[in-house]
Amino acid sequence: MRNTLYIAILASMVLYVACSPAKGNRTGHEFMPDMVHPTAYEANLYDHYSFIQWGTEEEYKQYASPRQHVNGTVPRGQINAAYAGTEADATQAFDLFTGKEDGTFAYTPNGRVPYYYSDTEEERLRATREITSNPFPITAEGLVHGKEMYDIYCGICHGETGNGLGYLVREEDPAKNITAGVYPAAPANLLLDTFVVSTPGRFYHAIMYGKNVMGSYADKLSYRERWEVIHYIRSLQAKERKLEYSPSANTLNSEAKPWAVVEAQMPKEKPVQPAAPADAANGDDHGQQNNH
Ligand code: HEC
Repeated sequence: MRNTLYIAILASMVLYVACSPAKGNRTGHEFMPDMVHPTAYEANLYDHYSFIQWGTEEEYKQYASPRQHVNGTVPRGQINAAYAGTEADATQAFDLFTGKEDGTFAYTPNGRVPYYYSDTEEERLRATREITSNPFPITAEGLVHGKEMYDIYCGICHGETGNGLGYLVREEDPAKNITAGVYPAAPANLLLDTFVVSTPGRFYHAIMYGKNVMGSYADKLSYRERWEVIHYIRSLQAKERKLEYSPSANTLNSEAKPWAVVEAQMPKEKPVQPAAPADAANGDDHGQQNNH
């Protein structure tokens, strides 16, 4: 008798679920909805779930919806790093993104860094005069990512090697079945002396606003990526001149430090000292050998 009851209940459950499968706009029935839907507030999930019991539907929506930033604030990404006055400040700012400090976690901030130069010839010259160093050290990862970004966004015009002969400006060569490129103006040859001796501000300004027929790439490259592209262009210039611009050495210019140099200046982690035996007589020596 008992078994029959269980079987009947089970059969009706199976029937219940089997008879209302999801279809078209119908979601079907769920056997154990609590297991399917977490009852916590889910960020950005607007369809209120009726089994959530602690609070009204309005409250649910209020907490699940994206929050506004604090009034009067603007997300400004790597601004601490960009405007650090001293090298120590810059190092500290970058450390915040690595998660090495207590209370920080590793992330790449993608807010914006303001650029206080406008799109005019005078301002281009001012940027060239005033922006004289790359805030990022030369790292292997930076060069790899810089190359990736350069090849996508710049190389098509400025050429893979920086010589200004990118794919879009290729010359016609019927023998090899190559049609002429369609780009109307000659992109700058970034390997020329004038660009090698120029400050990085000239490159940064070109990325922010473009120049004449070259458009802006400010919305394509993050703050860090712009500087990585400039690192990569510098490495192309160095290569052509048989100089070095790499994580281990920079014989091209003094605008950026190789990572090896930065690393050598970093404070070494102190080895943990075994606790010194307590000795009242040596209090001032912090337990070291008394050598008075
Ligand atoms: C669609 C083609 C094209 C692309 C893509 C392009 N450029 Fe240019 N670029 C040009 C042209 C053309 C000029 C020459 C502008 C002039 O002097 O009139 C130029 C000029 C420059 C200059 C020299 C500006 C100066 O001060 O004289 C720099 C630096 C530069 N580009 C960097 C870049 C970087 C970095 C990228 C990638 C983020 C890039 N360009 C992408 C076409 C391009």
